[in-house]
Amino acid sequence: MNADMKILVVTNTDSIREMLHEALASQYSVQFTTSREVKKEIDRIAPDVVLIVQPEDGTGVELVQYIQGELPEGVIIFLTEKQDFALLRDVVRAGAIEYILLPDELALLTDRLEKINELAQHQQRKKGAVATGKAFVRGRGKVFAFYSGKGGSGRTQLATGFAQALKLESTARVLLIDLNLQYGGVETFFSLDAGRTLADLVPVMNEMNENHIRNVAQRESHSKLEVLVSPRDAETAENMPEDFISRLIRASRRSYDFVILDLPTHMNEITYTALEESDAIYYVMNLDTPSVQTYRLVEELFRKLRIDTEGRLEIVVNQKGRDNELNVADLKGLISTPIAAEISRDHRGVQAAVNQGLPLQRVANEKKLVPAAKDIRKWVLAKLS
Ligand SMILES: Nc1ncnc2c1ncn2[C@@H]1O[C@H](COP(=O)(O)OP(=O)(O)O)[C@@H](O)[C@H]1O
Ligand SMILES: [Mg+2]
Repeated sequence: MNADMKILVVTNTDSIREMLHEALASQYSVQFTTSREVKKEIDRIAPDVVLIVQPEDGTGVELVQYIQGELPEGVIIFLTEKQDFALLRDVVRAGAIEYILLPDELALLTDRLEKINELAQHQQRKKGAVATGKAFVRGRGKVFAFYSGKGGSGRTQLATGFAQALKLESTARVLLIDLNLQYGGVETFFSLDAGRTLADLVPVMNEMNENHIRNVAQRESHSKLEVLVSPRDAETAENMPEDFISRLIRASRRSYDFVILDLPTHMNEITYTALEESDAIYYVMNLDTPSVQTYRLVEELFRKLRIDTEGRLEIVVNQKGRDNELNVADLKGLISTPIAAEISRDHRGVQAAVNQGLPLQRVANEKKLVPAAKDIRKWVLAKLS
């Protein structure tokens, strides 16, 4: 039959290895590896199809996501010995095209592989660049971090405004996470209570899924934007396991279309991890010399920490007004990083909203928006188009 289609099987179990070898090796070129070794080998082997058997440590979803990232054209099929609906949904979201139970559904697996093979040959004949299983693959959510080296520049104001507008103006699933674990901040721009916080996810961090996040998230009352509020407690923050934040961000990315992170100025393990995991970093900056100086220090720090910001870092000018020390043209002369948006200084609008405990924007396509809200909405709409 056909030996062109390369299949890589990721399993740590001998019995499964034998079963799949027997079922597939006569028809396809099949190689085997373990969940520990696969990261080193995937590039070299460059398989057309990857069969991932759920590892005993439950890292299957992460593995799917990793392989999807490394092999965007590859077809991933997830194999498991136990039926688990939440897991099924997570692996499909992460990029697997199929979830198959072994040994019960072995026939289904061989059938699928035959179809994929036919399709691949057909497409090769047509020489389309479209990959075999691509049509089934769901997207993975985007993570946007709001950061600045200088407190008070408007990160929380803009992160909350951006997330709110994104939720109101689209059908996207949006999650806002307050990573200022010590002092919080997001809850002051939305009327949220101190009840459930993201620290409640620590006990389920190893199997965290959409349901866990939904149960802990609070909802902004107008938009129903989901928000993970900060525990606002230094001790709780310090006691969080090292990999909690990266697990939280990855699980959020799997379950939502957009994940907005509000970050503290302080560079620590959490800020570092969040910056590394982000698709875009919005550096919030005011139009004055101290802000430019801080920005230079941050650039230097990113370099030292080897945070690669190429194509990810953009400046958001905040508090733009008539009496700024610098104007946007000056800033462009000083800094070559692209500017994503310019938000007006709007003391009245912001103050009125804060006093009433209301978000800047409350409904989609709102007519009477204050200037800052208008600017944020314009940025979000441009982002969505
Ligand atoms: N564009 C703006 N116009 C007016 N006030 C603003 C604007 N952006 C932020 N502020 C106000 O400035 C203060 C600091 O903003 P905040 O978002 O808390 O900063 P950060 O999170 O960077 O420390 C807040 O009181 C906020 O309401
Ligand atoms: Mg803040």
